Amino acid sequence: MIEVERLEKSYGFARALKGISFAVQKGEVIGFLGPNGAGKSTTMKILTGYLLPSGGRATVAGHDVVAESLAVRRCIGYLPESTPLYGEMRVDDYLGFCAEIRGVPGGKRKAAIARAVELCALQRVTGKNILELSKGYKQRVGLAQAIVHEPPVLILDEPTSGLDPNQIIEVRKLIERLGQEHTVVLSTHYLQEVEKSCSRVIIVRQGEIVADGTRQQLIDKLPSGGLRLSVRGPEPAVLAQVRELLPPGTPVQVVERTGTALELRIELGTATAPVDEALARLIVKNGWDLLGMVRERASLEDVFRSVTQSASEAAHA
Ligand SMILES: Nc1ncnc2c1ncn2[C@@H]1O[C@H](COP(=O)(O)OP(=O)(O)OP(=O)(O)O)[C@@H](O)[C@H]1O
Ligand SMILES: [Mg+2]
Repeated sequence: MIEVERLEKSYGFARALKGISFAVQKGEVIGFLGPNGAGKSTTMKILTGYLLPSGGRATVAGHDVVAESLAVRRCIGYLPESTPLYGEMRVDDYLGFCAEIRGVPGGKRKAAIARAVELCALQRVTGKNILELSKGYKQRVGLAQAIVHEPPVLILDEPTSGLDPNQIIEVRKLIERLGQEHTVVLSTHYLQEVEKSCSRVIIVRQGEIVADGTRQQLIDKLPSGGLRLSVRGPEPAVLAQVRELLPPGTPVQVVERTGTALELRIELGTATAPVDEALARLIVKNGWDLLGMVRERASLEDVFRSVTQSASEAAHA
C-alpha cells in the first residue's frame, strides 16, 4: 500500500531524512516512533504530498507522491501534527467542506459526514463552531476530517498528544477501530499506544531507520535481561553455590534481604543456556526454600531506548 525507497529530505544544509526505505502492506497498522526531530513528521508530510522529497521516491496505493499528488491525497486521510482546523466553521460544515474538496460526490456527502461523526462520537457538537470545542473534541474533528472521504490509508501524526487520560483512551479506541478497516501509519511518543494497536513498529533516529519489525521481533533482538530469584537460605552459601553454577563472570546481585530471605538478580545478558531449572534443583537439593523465580521481560520501551540512544548516552543512563 505504501512503498518508500531511499527517501531523502534536506532543509537547507540539515539532512532530516537520510535515505529511508520501508513498505507497508494493506491492513497493517504501523507505529512510527523516534525521538524528537528524528524525521517522523517530515516522512508523513512527504507521504501525504505536503512536502517534496529531496531524493528517493514514495508511492501510496501505486501513486507517486510527487507526480500524482492529487490522487495520493484522495486515498489518504491525514491528521497533521498541528491540525489546521477552521475555527469559525461549524463542525458539520467543515466536514462537508473536507468531503467536497476530497472528491466525495454531492449525493453521498451527507452519509459520509454522518459516518465520520458517528465513528468519532461527534454527535453532540456538530452544530458548534470548532473554535468553541475542547482540545479533545478538536482532535476528534481532526480525525473525522481524515476519514470523511473513506480513504484506504490513514497517516496520523501524534493523534493523542496533549489529551487528558480519558480522552487518550477514547481516541485510542477509535484508532483501534479504524485500524480494522484501514492501513494506518501512526506516530506517537506513547509506547503503550503502539503495544495495544500496532501490528508493526518502525523506529527512526536522526533521519535513519534503526528498527523495523513486530514488537516481539524487536524485543527478541535484545539481550535476554535478568532473572529474579527469591531464596530462603544462608546468604554466603547461597551466593557461593549460585555463582558456581552460572557461567563464570555472570553478575549476581543481592537486591533485597528480608529476614533470611534473599532476592537475587542474575544478569543473563545474551546467554541462552536454560539455567532456571538448574538453579531450582540446586536450591531444593540444599534444602533451602525457593520463594520465587521470574524472568524480567523486556518491553518496547527497552527496544526504543536501545536503538535511539548512542552508546555513550546508554552508558550514562
Ligand atoms: N520547516 C523546517 N525547516 C527546517 N528544518 C526543519 C523543518 N521541519 C523540520 N525540520 C528539521 O528536520 C528534522 C526532523 O523534523 P521532524 O519534524 O520530521 O521530526 P519528528 O520526528 O516529527 O519530531 P517530533 O517528535 O518532535 O515531532 C529536525 O531536525 C527538524 O528541526
Ligand atoms: Mg513530529
